[in-house]
Amino acid sequence: MKVTVVGAGAVGASCAEYIAIKDFASEVVILDIKEGYAEGKAMDLMQTASLNGFDTKITGTTNDYSKTAGSDIAVITSGIPRKPGMTREELIGINAGIVKTVATNLIEHSPNVILIVVSNPMDTMTYLAHKVTGLPKNKIIGMGGALDSARFKYRLAEALEAPISDIDGMVIGGHSDTGMVPLASHATRNSIKVSEFIDADRLQQVIEDTKVGGATLTKLLGTSAWYAPGAAVSALVQAIACDQKKMFPCSTMLDGEYGLSDICIGVPVILGKNGIEKIVDVPLSEAEKAKMKESAEGVSKTNGLLDV
Ligand code: 2OP
Repeated sequence: MKVTVVGAGAVGASCAEYIAIKDFASEVVILDIKEGYAEGKAMDLMQTASLNGFDTKITGTTNDYSKTAGSDIAVITSGIPRKPGMTREELIGINAGIVKTVATNLIEHSPNVILIVVSNPMDTMTYLAHKVTGLPKNKIIGMGGALDSARFKYRLAEALEAPISDIDGMVIGGHSDTGMVPLASHATRNSIKVSEFIDADRLQQVIEDTKVGGATLTKLLGTSAWYAPGAAVSALVQAIACDQKKMFPCSTMLDGEYGLSDICIGVPVILGKNGIEKIVDVPLSEAEKAKMKESAEGVSKTNGLLDV
C-alpha cells in the first residue's frame, strides 16, 4: 500500500506520522515544493521508526511527482493555512491554483489513485478535484467532517464530564465556521441521547463551540491546527487501505442525495478499499435539514468563485 502526502507542512507531516505509526502502509511519500523540506521531514520521521515501532518506509521528494507513481491513496494538504480572523473561504484565491496543479500531477503518475482533499476551502477544493481530474466520484474524498466530528465529541465529553470513549456524534454539512451541522439529535453517551445529560442551552453551546473549533485554535496558535486534522486524515486513509467499511462524514459529490446535486459537502459515507463505497442517508430533523440546505448554499457560493 503506497500513500502519497502532498504538503510537508504541519498537517501533512502529522498525517504521515500517524499513518506510519499505525503501520498499515508499506510506503509513504511526502512531497513538497520547498527544497529539501519533505526530505527532511521524512528523514526525521524515519528516525522515530525504532522508537515508535513501525516498518513503514517514509521518503520525501522536492516536487518530483515521479516518486509518487503508483500511489494507491494520495492526500492533498498543500496550500496556505488561514491566519487568525480569516475564514477558510478566503484561501480560495491561492489554494485553488495549487490544488489544481497538485491533483493534475498526482493522477498523471497514479491514474487509479484515491484522492483525499484537505486543503481549504475544503468542500470547494474537493469539487475542483472532480473538475480537473475526472476521477470517479468514489475516488475523491474531502476530509472535514471527520475532524469536525472529533471536535464535536471533544466538546460533548467536556459538557457531559464524560470520557470521550463514551461519546458518539457526527458533524455533516460544509467544513466552514457557519456551515457545519452537528447532529445533536443523534449524539449519544453510550447509546443514550446526550440530551438526557445536558440541557438545550448547554447543547447549543457545544454546537457553537464545535462550529468554530478550527477558528478557536487558529486564534490560539496563530495558524491552523494540525494534530487533529492529521489524525482525521490518517483515519480515512486507514479505512480505505484496510478496507474497514467504516462510516465517516466526508465531503463527496452528491447527485440527488440529501436533495443536493453538483456539490461536494459532508455527508455520512462508508469508506473501504474502493474509497466511498456508499452514501448513507440518515434521518434529519426539520431543523437539521434546513441547516444542511443553508450550508449547501454557502458551499455553492464559494464554488462559484472557481475558474473551472
Ligand atoms: C481546521 O478546521 C485546517 O480546516 C482545518 O482546523
